[in-house]
Amino acid sequence: MKRDFLRLWDFTSEEISSIVERAIALKAGADANKCPLIGKSLWLLFEKPSTRTRISFEVGIYQLGGQSIYMKPSEIQIGRGESTADTARVLSRYLDGIIIRTFEHTKLEEFAANSDVPVINGLSDLHHPCQVLADLMTIKEKKGKLEGIKVAYIGDGNNVANSLMEAAGRMGLLLNIACPEGYEPDLDILEEARNGKGEIIILRDPKEAAGRADVIYTDVWVSMGQEDSAEKKKRKFSAYQVNSSLLACAKKDVMVMHCLPAHRGEEITDEVIDGPQSVVFDQAENRLHTQKALLEILIK
Ligand code: CP
Ligand code: NVA
Repeated sequence: MKRDFLRLWDFTSEEISSIVERAIALKAGADANKCPLIGKSLWLLFEKPSTRTRISFEVGIYQLGGQSIYMKPSEIQIGRGESTADTARVLSRYLDGIIIRTFEHTKLEEFAANSDVPVINGLSDLHHPCQVLADLMTIKEKKGKLEGIKVAYIGDGNNVANSLMEAAGRMGLLLNIACPEGYEPDLDILEEARNGKGEIIILRDPKEAAGRADVIYTDVWVSMGQEDSAEKKKRKFSAYQVNSSLLACAKKDVMVMHCLPAHRGEEITDEVIDGPQSVVFDQAENRLHTQKALLEILIK
């Protein structure tokens, strides 16, 4: 039976833990010469730009012995109106796994419902689960555990914030999300995640969130596809910048995370992202290791 990975909630706490542990082992060089996915093909269909997700999946499948095929919708018949369902039915007869980066999350669900091979969410407007696997690995590496770690997410209640809420629910993070009114994360996801293990608080004051945090996390104020509202959002979020005065309210050993790409000078300053508390490049590297651990589990 194929498994999809459309949102973090698709996996149990135990499955997420085992991906994180396997990724840490792979990073340390475990099974470096083994190629468990020889002959396997992964298709990447990306409707939005990507640096980390695309390259880490392409390099990851190659390191595991398989190959990747990258395309934009304009290069296949979907771009000329062929249905998502027909495309999924045909392609799952050639491929062993499909990664999609898209706008509407429902398009991923439709693709997955019509595919016989695993479909992985490479980012939708609602979720970014592969990112948050790497985030969990980074927290585990640096803080030694996940349960009880206090994460302050400062900024827009977007796809990354939604997946972090699911991470809190599954892994027991204590998540404070500081955002302006009207920019909260998805309320259905919040409600579901609150039935899990951790704690999720939505508040307005970034300093209050930062003050109790082990980890401060931020993401862009204007996500891909929201460019029309950029100026309004930048005005609304000006008090939500992760800068040295916010860090001064936090614990001395607070760790700073960002999924990247960063808009330096907007949601985060150069001083912070390049400073000693930032782990953003380790976090970006970990995309490769968690992607490989995920592929090992899903691709048969
Ligand atoms: N963090 C992340 O998903 O980066 P890309 O958009 O470069 O893939
Ligand atoms: N929230 C951002 C994440 C980019 C990796 C976006 O959707 O553009």
